[in-house]
Amino acid sequence: MADEKKRLLTGLQSSGQLHIGNYLGALKRFVGAYADYESMLMVADLHALTSVKNPAQLREGIIDVVADYIAVGVDPTKATIFKQSDVLEHPELAWIFECLVTVPFLQQAHAFKDKVAKGLEANAGLFNYPMLMAADILLYDTDVVPVGEDQRQHIEYAREAAAKFNLAYGDTFKEPKEMILEGVGTVPGVDGKKMSKSYGNTIPLFGTDEAIRVAVMSIKTDSTAVGAPLNPTTDITFQLHQHFTPNLAEIQKRYMDGTIGYKESKELLAHNIIATIAPMRERRAALSREAVIQILKDGAEVARARAQAKMKDVREKIGVGLY
Ligand code: TYM
Repeated sequence: MADEKKRLLTGLQSSGQLHIGNYLGALKRFVGAYADYESMLMVADLHALTSVKNPAQLREGIIDVVADYIAVGVDPTKATIFKQSDVLEHPELAWIFECLVTVPFLQQAHAFKDKVAKGLEANAGLFNYPMLMAADILLYDTDVVPVGEDQRQHIEYAREAAAKFNLAYGDTFKEPKEMILEGVGTVPGVDGKKMSKSYGNTIPLFGTDEAIRVAVMSIKTDSTAVGAPLNPTTDITFQLHQHFTPNLAEIQKRYMDGTIGYKESKELLAHNIIATIAPMRERRAALSREAVIQILKDGAEVARARAQAKMKDVREKIGVGLY
């Protein structure tokens, strides 16, 4: 075969400012791997609709996610960057999967269960979310999906959808594998829980220096007195140092000697985060809105052609493709 490259696809919702959990768990992972695969990067704008009801916010969110991908180092000539809503085969395939899986199966999905457990009313889009995500992945015969730990179950659901379809209609979809990087599967937020927009505990990836400093200085600590040794394994600030601080061994030693306090450690972390993202910010600032829109238009053409070829086969198999 001429094309032996495996396929990689990932997606990010366009539902607000990306945080350093998204960066470490998904974007950085993608940047490290995508050149070795036939890669697709998707802006999950239909998924974002489950929570974003403001059109201006959704529009800006889409542009922002693409700018963020480019800023962290994705070359749009090497990966197909597109938005979900440009390829209508995604919701079409999601519907077909929804007709194969049961309600109790979808009720077990974490995102839905969490919402219900909090006593909140989930919309039907949130309930069906995993099947749209399965369609995103399976439409393109994806081999690997770089994501954070919180998406592991969604990849299992995609495998399950593929298996159910294959069983009912014959071998059609590949079962994908998650690619979760050790140590960054769950990046903690400033309160120690998983960093998440919905918990309000994030450190913004492309915030102002001040916003990054304010978030870092608010990281939860215990009440160990200045001058006493600190425990690097339990400290949230130290966990984040591991991803941004070059002289980590020295900082670890200072924790154990008691020669660094929480305040100094946080100031150093904020400084190192800002230094890491400085070149990314420059790339982001150099990118025009028109350039982002062109990237999305070009990506949509490539994605559409692939998705349409796959769906032709699917429609024939399920019995709706008559001509
Ligand atoms: P989203 O937009 O919530 O998150 C984007 C990516 O960031 C990862 N992530 C984290 N990783 C480590 N630590 C954290 N604290 C953290 N918070 C978020 C997520 O795991 C994710 O990889 N359902 C997906 C979007 C999606 C998708 C897809 C992904 C739609 N279709 C197809 C892959 C393939 C989501 O909600 O991502």
